[in-house]
Amino acid sequence: MKFFETVEMAPPDPILGLNAAFKADPRSNKVNLSIGAYKTDDLQPLVLAAVRKAEEKVLTDGMDKEYLSQDGNPEYVNRSIQLVFNAEQDNIFGAQVPGGTAGVRLAGDFLAQLGSQVIYIPDPTWANHNQVFTKAGLQVESYPYYDADRRAFTKAQMVEAIQSIPTGSPILLHACCHNPTGLDPTPDDWKEISTAIKAQGLLPVFDFAYQGFGHGIDEDAMAVRHFLADGHQMLLANSYSKNFGLYGERAGGFYVVTPDRAAAERVKSQVMRIIRANYSNPPLHGARIIAAVLASDTLRQEWEVELAAMRERISGMRKALAEGLNAGGSSVDFSFMYRQNGMFSYSGLSKAAVDQLREEYAIYMPTNGRLNVAGLSPKNLDYVVEAILVVL
Ligand SMILES: Cc1ncc(COP(=O)(O)O)c(C=O)c1O
Repeated sequence: MKFFETVEMAPPDPILGLNAAFKADPRSNKVNLSIGAYKTDDLQPLVLAAVRKAEEKVLTDGMDKEYLSQDGNPEYVNRSIQLVFNAEQDNIFGAQVPGGTAGVRLAGDFLAQLGSQVIYIPDPTWANHNQVFTKAGLQVESYPYYDADRRAFTKAQMVEAIQSIPTGSPILLHACCHNPTGLDPTPDDWKEISTAIKAQGLLPVFDFAYQGFGHGIDEDAMAVRHFLADGHQMLLANSYSKNFGLYGERAGGFYVVTPDRAAAERVKSQVMRIIRANYSNPPLHGARIIAAVLASDTLRQEWEVELAAMRERISGMRKALAEGLNAGGSSVDFSFMYRQNGMFSYSGLSKAAVDQLREEYAIYMPTNGRLNVAGLSPKNLDYVVEAILVVL
């Protein structure tokens, strides 16, 4: 009997595969602009001081290691609902999940269980959305989001497309810091999008992985809170990987805004079953740290200051990159980068240019030209600018 002899090699993950290739590259001048992870000016990973302090508290409190329930740590969930929705409403069900990816997957699983067949996602979108929803059993269709000629978000085309999506369909929206383009709707655009989605009877599914990386904690939640005020029912997945720098702790959330408390209870019972059959219950540690930060005025304030510093370092690097490229006499005007938010910049570099940067300069980014601005620093900026000017 043959079991594994005929298993075929799967293609490498577009982002994680690149990260592994970067690690294996022996060149000392290599630059990692692929995976969305924050680095300091010294190109080191950052553990926030507020996180370290909360972790000490968790350890000195001597907490047990018993299982959590399927929906996780209640203090964490309640504080997350407050942080995301700025609301305390008994019609919102929330669960702690292992990272934003698990939240997106749970949304897919729940939608499939509800009978959805197709989900509409932006073109382009985070590289993982397609396979997460496909593995959940959904068919994936896209709606226009980006105009490559203008290097801009295309509100008119998006709203027009919404008007022809079948009523009852789920539609995925990036709440802020759209990955990969870095281009977000304005508050007025969001209001128009909310109205169009409501008129068409679609179910918004927010992916909220970068709260605080765009303009601020509350500013970045504008779309979600506006949709809530507009009376939408919705699904939402959030992640604390980036804004708490807790990438490997796997801390995120999954939320369902339902019509009333009774519906929230019924939704809870179904989502708990999906979780139970999947990973049973989420991990303890990251959620304890986040709950401790959010529950303490001092730690929360410290976290907000550190989050603002990360945001400002990234936007300073984005500006320096655009200025460097423009000052270097590039044939392309890189001023469009000033409009982009969050960790990423959609550089517009061709696949050939991206390949050349990797092969000749050891500069790594995905083939769609989306570069992680948080991987730039005064230490590598000039090198990156010069290399891009050459490959252009
Ligand atoms: C848009 C988007 N959604 C979800 C995630 C997943 O976050 P996590 O690492 O917490 O699973 C990411 C991470 O890169 C992302 O960019």
